[in-house]
Amino acid sequence: MEKIYITENARETELFGSKLAEKLKKDSFVALFGDMGAGKTVFVRGVVEKLIPDAVKLVHSPTFALVNEYIGDDVKIYHFDMYRISDEDELYAIGFDDYFGNGIIITEWSENIPDSIPSDAVRVSIRPLDENRREITLRGLEI
Ligand SMILES: Nc1ncnc2c1ncn2[C@@H]1O[C@H](COP(=O)(O)OP(=O)(O)OP(=O)(O)O)[C@@H](O)[C@H]1O
Ligand SMILES: [Mg+2]
Repeated sequence: MEKIYITENARETELFGSKLAEKLKKDSFVALFGDMGAGKTVFVRGVVEKLIPDAVKLVHSPTFALVNEYIGDDVKIYHFDMYRISDEDELYAIGFDDYFGNGIIITEWSENIPDSIPSDAVRVSIRPLDENRREITLRGLEI
């Protein structure tokens, strides 16, 4: 079951992230797909805005750090960027498994970790239609 949405600008993609955030559990896994500049980090900003407003200013692609942690009073978000992961075995080295169940996990460049995405993950694919319009395909969650 999948549903397709169109956003007209970055703010709408943020708001889509905020709306989806309301339906997440404290240990949900959200796998993001889409090329450079698609809007994955914009989407994450919307999720964080809803759940941990104080942390919004910290949201950026964690390309070099690999993971950004946003810690709220009753929710934690682990924001990964898998852009540089070329072999999923590398995930063991960074203790990726230890994050499971400890908070919401959101992964950019999920294309690079196909075997590590749980079967019950929420999947969000973002595809640019033109400069400001994005097609967002949602699987694994009803909003
Ligand atoms: N409808 C839209 N939704 C999301 N972003 C949009 C939209 N229209 C324009 N943009 C712009 O597209 C860019 C998306 O950047 P963003 O950092 O979110 O991409 P990304 O998918 O995380 O890329 P990367 O893989 O490099 O991390 C921003 O500059 C944003 O303002
Ligand atoms: Mg990004």
